[in-house]
Amino acid sequence: MYPVPSYPVKKGSIIDSHAHYNDHRFDDCREELLSKMYDLGVSKIINCGCDFESIEEVLDLSDKYDFCFSAVGWHPENVNEDEFDFARLDRIIKENKKIVAVGETGLDYNWRQDNKDRQKAAFHTQLDIAAANNLPVIIHDRDAHADTLEILKQHTPKGVVHCFSGSVEMAREVVKMGMYVGIGGVLTFKNGRVLKEVAADIPLERILLETDAPYLSPEPFRGKLNHSALIIYVAEKLAEIKGVSVAEVISVTAKNTEELFGI
Ligand code: NI
Repeated sequence: MYPVPSYPVKKGSIIDSHAHYNDHRFDDCREELLSKMYDLGVSKIINCGCDFESIEEVLDLSDKYDFCFSAVGWHPENVNEDEFDFARLDRIIKENKKIVAVGETGLDYNWRQDNKDRQKAAFHTQLDIAAANNLPVIIHDRDAHADTLEILKQHTPKGVVHCFSGSVEMAREVVKMGMYVGIGGVLTFKNGRVLKEVAADIPLERILLETDAPYLSPEPFRGKLNHSALIIYVAEKLAEIKGVSVAEVISVTAKNTEELFGI
């Protein structure tokens, strides 16, 4: 089952800018959990598809639930030796009005370093597709900060670097490009020192809150099934870092998310 926050949250005030409710870990509680989201404090959720199978699944969720939106892309971890049908991705984007972003796309050198060129090529192509469809991008960057930044500078997209794991200097570059920094449960971890420095340094107006659910549950639920209502614990930590109220963190970051994705 899923953990329930003990923190009082205003109904329908939180937006989760990055989740994966299609994940099999939600199979025994997905409907119950999503039907309670408003009462648990959540107003909107963006689910990210990472290959054609999960794209179908997140589109089903946005068909079924008013408050669910979709991002569609080819995750760098799926960039294997198979060909990817980018024309099909483009068609799917044009056919579905609840697709609000291209992603996850980006680079993951933690996963593999032997296919960097292939990962970069897929990233470039998806940035072009996003631009052609006037959509923002949701960027996955793991252990690939320099190359990610270099490619972003070439394309200057609208978008967010999700689950940000770079330095303060990189965060400043991202903000300078007019992009957003995605922050989730890692902010509450004891070893999340650099992310806390990033959060302190960049303006709240450039931060989006996210879960990456079912992964990366914040403390005090680290290791358990993550879901959008637990964002309150990330907001609480961010409020402490920024010296503002939790309500302000939630409302400013929600507005940022609405503006970026047009939701
Ligand atoms: Ni994700």
